[in-house]
Amino acid sequence: MTSEISVDEMRAAHKRTAPFIHNTPIMTSEKIDEKVGAHVLFKCEHLQKTGSFKARGALNSVILAKEQNAKGVIAHSSGNHGQALAWSALKIGLPCTIVVPRNAPVSKIDGMKEYGANITLCEPTMSSRESVCADLAEKLDSFYVDPHNCVSMINGHASVVFEVLGQVGNEIDSIFLSVGGGGFAASVAFLIGNIRPDVEGEYRIYLVEPEQKQLSKLLEEGVQCDVETLNTIADGVRVAQVGSLCEPILKKYCTKTVVSVKEEEIKEALKLIWTRMKQRIEPTAALAFAGVLYHKPSHIKRPLVILCGGNVDTNYVIN
Ligand SMILES: Cc1ncc(COP(=O)(O)O)c(C=O)c1O
Repeated sequence: MTSEISVDEMRAAHKRTAPFIHNTPIMTSEKIDEKVGAHVLFKCEHLQKTGSFKARGALNSVILAKEQNAKGVIAHSSGNHGQALAWSALKIGLPCTIVVPRNAPVSKIDGMKEYGANITLCEPTMSSRESVCADLAEKLDSFYVDPHNCVSMINGHASVVFEVLGQVGNEIDSIFLSVGGGGFAASVAFLIGNIRPDVEGEYRIYLVEPEQKQLSKLLEEGVQCDVETLNTIADGVRVAQVGSLCEPILKKYCTKTVVSVKEEEIKEALKLIWTRMKQRIEPTAALAFAGVLYHKPSHIKRPLVILCGGNVDTNYVIN
């Protein structure tokens, strides 16, 4: 597999995956602009294949695995990564196995099954996920695709940046995105940092986190969050630790741009997008918007918010 994170690899990944993925639309809302006091642009990755940006990196990883004669791909996931990998494997014609914690939302497990993945259940702890996955990977001779700490995932996600720059590159002054294990943020920050020389000025990447995560402590003092899983409605970013590949990139480009958001703020942001824009985003996407709605620095006038996913647990909504 590709061994380095680079602009050239990101360009190659974009070319490789573009025929299969959506160039997702940009949306705006006058009502939301009034409320925020700025012109907010939304990149609609909730309308991406499988309902999240994860399809970008997963597809890049599966194509590269196939080129290297892998017998299959495998990952552990409670949601979006599993669906994205399963869909990619189905498209490219490789068997896919997902190790899923027993407490994962049923709708997300159903999604993985519908894309043809073989599901193996495990205990809902990171150690169980990792050990079951490692054993199975060896037994099945399958290529392991880490959800965030993975070069081909990070290179693959960057296609969202090429699209955004083509769509609204000159209209925006910042990008707000949700951060979990850090793969998505590392991808966007690395590419923008390398191809937009003004990134050190006003054009910045803001990392929006649930407040429990305390990413600033890691980036400024080297102190990792002391819990394994965050207790947040934003289920796509419950993983507390940032990957070792992602950390130096985030340190370089985003040390002063971490935005911490309260749970109530995520819920209010979700409500606003559902009611005003009628877009059925998931709470993890609302997290990024909550960063703009409640914590936008006053000099930011044209933020782009990446609505990273739309896989809402329907049981949760109905009950
Ligand atoms: C919808 C959504 N947004 C954001 C993230 C966070 O991505 P990362 O773990 O690369 O920071 C995830 C991770 O699965 C996700 O599913």
